[in-house]
Amino acid sequence: MPMYPPIAPLTLSEHPSFAQAICTWQKQHGRHHLPWQNTRDPYRIWVSEIMLQQTQVTTVIPYYQRFMTHFPTVATLAKAPLDEVLSHWSGLGYYARARHLHEAAQRLHIQGCYPDTSAGWATLPGIGRSTAAAIVAFSLGQRATILDGNVKRILTRYFFLKQTTQADLWRLADHLVPDNDIESYTQGLMDLGSLVCTRTCPSCLHCPLQHTCQAYHSGQFIDPQPVRKRITRTRQDSHLLLIHNTLDQWLVIQRPKHGIWAGLWSFPEEPQTPSQALGYSLCLGDWLSSAQPLKSFVHLLTHREWHFHPYVYHLSGDTPLSVQGHGVAWLTAADIAKLAIPAPVRDLLPRLNSIRDGSLS
Ligand code: ADE
Repeated sequence: MPMYPPIAPLTLSEHPSFAQAICTWQKQHGRHHLPWQNTRDPYRIWVSEIMLQQTQVTTVIPYYQRFMTHFPTVATLAKAPLDEVLSHWSGLGYYARARHLHEAAQRLHIQGCYPDTSAGWATLPGIGRSTAAAIVAFSLGQRATILDGNVKRILTRYFFLKQTTQADLWRLADHLVPDNDIESYTQGLMDLGSLVCTRTCPSCLHCPLQHTCQAYHSGQFIDPQPVRKRITRTRQDSHLLLIHNTLDQWLVIQRPKHGIWAGLWSFPEEPQTPSQALGYSLCLGDWLSSAQPLKSFVHLLTHREWHFHPYVYHLSGDTPLSVQGHGVAWLTAADIAKLAIPAPVRDLLPRLNSIRDGSLS
């Protein structure tokens, strides 16, 4: 077993080159042309930081560009209905982010100005300590400490921290922040974490911290962080009822305000057996004439393995009035695509067209 050095003393003077190495590396090798860079606009920076929580840069870019075209200012976002915001978030996942962003925009719009400290930003919904710090570092050039998953990994490896608390990590991260060039340093940590000091395959030979990195010198290239607890997912089976009328419309419903995919639109779903799922359709009376199964698919959520079994029901008569009203609609596949819908439901839409064309898949 290797001998682990004690937790590094929390003084910047012990590691004077850490920030310098990161800033110099960022200028030469970091990212400089992301759509949310080269601006001081707090709105553009804030939206990007929210999208980048739990989502990778390459995934975020097209969503970010479309979102900023549609909601170019905090006022446009604040005044938009939540449904419209969710529909522009559709596919990015973690929809609470969009709801919080919208609520925060409404508060800021009423307030009439942006916070000028990271503590002020952190009072808004959806903005934690690290996100708030990134916003003020990029928009105001303020000295502020970020500590997201990537930064924790860099520090844990660099100082070879086997046992440490969140409070220790925050203190350490805070001590390392330089007084100047905060933008290069903050972006540098982000870039280093996602491009070089990656979780599974770090490129130590390209790392500006290689010479002083204790994990590198220990010869242990594995991530010294405690192994993440294995997530156990419970299986859920749901029948998805794709109900089609003679006007080539599909029945969609808005999901409840709480729970998975809160407030998004989807097809009616029955978390039970096929025969019980068919029971759902009783309210549709004689209109239901067929039930054709489509290929099942699985959607993974943090604690759930959700198996969907789609069934197509063709209505043979007019749309029954009993399934119209608030949160219920009959729409064509093209119109459903414009709603705020979860990604797996969006993936089903092309199959609806082939159903209409007569070729089930
Ligand atoms: N991850 C979080 N914020 C980021 C940013 N501003 N640039 C790149 N990756 C990020």
